[in-house]
Amino acid sequence: MNAKITALHSIELQTPDLAAACKFYQNVWGLEEVAGAEGVHYFRGTGPHHHILTLRGGPEPAVVAVNLLAADVASIDQLQQSLGSTLNQDIATPTEINRPGGGYGFAFKDIAQRNIQIMAEVQEHGQTADIKGRPRKLSHAIFNSDESEPSSKFYQDELGFKLTDFTKGLDFLRCDTTHHSIGITRSGGSTLNHVAFLMPEWDSVMRGAGRMKAAGFELEWGIGRHGPGDNIFAYFVGPDGMAIEFTAEVEEIEDDHQVRGIEDWLWLSERHEQWGLAGPPSDNLKKAFKFMPFTEALPG
Ligand SMILES: [Fe+2]
Repeated sequence: MNAKITALHSIELQTPDLAAACKFYQNVWGLEEVAGAEGVHYFRGTGPHHHILTLRGGPEPAVVAVNLLAADVASIDQLQQSLGSTLNQDIATPTEINRPGGGYGFAFKDIAQRNIQIMAEVQEHGQTADIKGRPRKLSHAIFNSDESEPSSKFYQDELGFKLTDFTKGLDFLRCDTTHHSIGITRSGGSTLNHVAFLMPEWDSVMRGAGRMKAAGFELEWGIGRHGPGDNIFAYFVGPDGMAIEFTAEVEEIEDDHQVRGIEDWLWLSERHEQWGLAGPPSDNLKKAFKFMPFTEALPG
């Protein structure tokens, strides 16, 4: 395998109350709408990705797709072919993407029936200066699974992710020098556990959390500093019961990194996070961590 995933790009969600979700992600969460037509709205962070969140109307809350980037058109073609034979699945031929941001790609169901879209040559923004309190991009998406091993192996063997660390709860997988861009838990069925948005620094996590408080959202876990990833976190339950996180200061991984396992993180078990301030996640958040299904249909 040569072609691999190079970045986590964006997530597409289906929501029963499109107007409310658009208002929330723009006015409270801190994204900016860049395109919208026919009931589909695209939101960017301050970073270069054309959009990091797509919202569309639909009967119930669900994830339409998690979108990953590959380096170029040749990589997309190669990945489509290798995935087709590994998954024994008729995967749609890659095409030009006729949506805002454009690009070239294809969508498929992964080994646990999660909707994944792989894209290349998506437009980027030139204006990418950080804005205090506003998310830059997606930091990570965590997938639930009843059996973590096949999913973890799939992302490593077929999409080029590397295992950075694992705990008794999950595998942390990276596709660049950031500690993790996806994670695979060991329970919860084929649902999305949560998605995290990267803030420029800790002060912006605090500002984002303050905005959420002012809008009536409880802080469900945090503010704390995770063990694996060393990142600062603040978790909320957003519109439609989905778990969402502001994060910052994620660990950068060197080439000679040694994978750290369950034994290496035992010191965290009673503290829940490095500072020992945040305590455990709320029951509300634990419920949200197991909630978000993927749509039956792949993105059109
Ligand atoms: Fe997270």
